[in-house]
Amino acid sequence: MIRLGVNIDHVATVRNARGENYPDPNKAALMAKKSGASSITIHLREDRRHITDKDLFKIVKLKNIRVNLEMAPTNKMLKIALKAKPNFVCIVPEKREELTTEGGLNLDKDNFRIKKIIYCLKKKGIRTSLFIEPRIQDVGKAKKLGADCVELHTGKFCNLYNLNKIFFNEFIKIKKAAKFANIIGLEVHAGHALTYQTAKMIKKIKNIKELNIGHFIISEAIFVGLKQAILNFKNVLK
Ligand code: PXP
Repeated sequence: MIRLGVNIDHVATVRNARGENYPDPNKAALMAKKSGASSITIHLREDRRHITDKDLFKIVKLKNIRVNLEMAPTNKMLKIALKAKPNFVCIVPEKREELTTEGGLNLDKDNFRIKKIIYCLKKKGIRTSLFIEPRIQDVGKAKKLGADCVELHTGKFCNLYNLNKIFFNEFIKIKKAAKFANIIGLEVHAGHALTYQTAKMIKKIKNIKELNIGHFIISEAIFVGLKQAILNFKNVLK
């Protein structure tokens, strides 16, 4: 079965909206694990708008929970990651003014730094993934930089699907990129803007081993609870 990584950033978003100490992302991580999440994803953004350094260092200490840290490719973030030692890192592009991660990494612009970051993380036994657009060229570049995995950006596909527009081309791009990544020895993940319906489509791509889902799970949790939202996804991914 395809693995489900649960992104709990927006538990921290709600907490920070009032400057209180609840809801607690730590508690969400424990509940997500209990409900069947394979891993917990947190994004330590440069502006710390949701997850904070304190959250990160607390969550990585939880027993039997695999933590996937999303981070921008900067030396500052690398230092933090090497200190926190999450199980996995996913390198993502980051713009301060964006509402969420808008696209995949530009592997031409930051290639030297990304290569160095991957090298340092892997040396410490941290599985490293690159968040990229579903493009064959980018998959090839990720491999050359030494990544273990690629996470394919599903945002465009999901947006088209949600707007009832033609999504077939985007779906095929994801499928082809996933297949090629597998052929050249990369593990394939996917994520961004996934819902029950779009996750159901993406799970049909057999080369994809893991989905990372956040906003929709936390949104659903308002109505059905976090545990039930995760169980619903587990059902979808069966
Ligand atoms: N994967 C990556 C690399 C991301 O940056 C995000 C957003 O933080 C997600 C998955 C989850 O996206 P969403 O919150 O839209 O489910």
